[in-house]
Amino acid sequence: MKFFIDTANLNDIREAYNLGVLDGVTTNPSLMAKEGISGKENIMKHYKAICDIVDDEVSAEVIATDYEGIIKEGQELAAIDPKIVVKVPMIKDGLKAIKYFADHNIRTNCTLVFTAGQALLAAKAGATFVSPFIGRLDDVATDGLQLIEQIRLIYDNYGFETQILAASVRHTMHLIKCAEIGADVVTCPLNVITSLLQHPLTDIGLAKFLADHKKANG
Ligand code: G3P
Repeated sequence: MKFFIDTANLNDIREAYNLGVLDGVTTNPSLMAKEGISGKENIMKHYKAICDIVDDEVSAEVIATDYEGIIKEGQELAAIDPKIVVKVPMIKDGLKAIKYFADHNIRTNCTLVFTAGQALLAAKAGATFVSPFIGRLDDVATDGLQLIEQIRLIYDNYGFETQILAASVRHTMHLIKCAEIGADVVTCPLNVITSLLQHPLTDIGLAKFLADHKKANG
């Protein structure tokens, strides 16, 4: 199972990478804006800075929503670094662009996926990754994890190679459940990854071991 960090914050990306468990990064226009990154040149430079930290698979999202615009922008993003994966929204022109990119060996991440039907289309078009947003489904009283299960079943039925990238992962139980279901990737903020480390019995046990060692060794 791959771990991606869902942020454009370079410090968080470095910290996750230094933990030794990071496989890639996902960003989106909201996350770039949150870091105060604006203007095409700065945005491109920031993607390059992210690519320089991690080993592979940095999702960079297109802003265009028309076919020609998505193709042009996707090609520009892909030219920044071989680690770039072009993130394309699940819209009609986006779907056509995913097919174009697949035919031209450019990796894609189909984003804003909320139904199994959308995930099926993304796989048929040849998306490298599909991003179902589980937290946002939970927000509207729909079971996001159930969607991951459904997509897993459908992809396995037909041997689709598109990787299920569970996105909008908000807490550790989302992540653990995604692992049980067989999501290929999860993307989440740094705190969700570091929360996996924590258990009070680990802290209590370690304190006792160190105290006992001190008693015996002075
Ligand atoms: O990867 C998608 C993600 O950025 C959305 O997360 O928490 O804004 O729903 P969230």
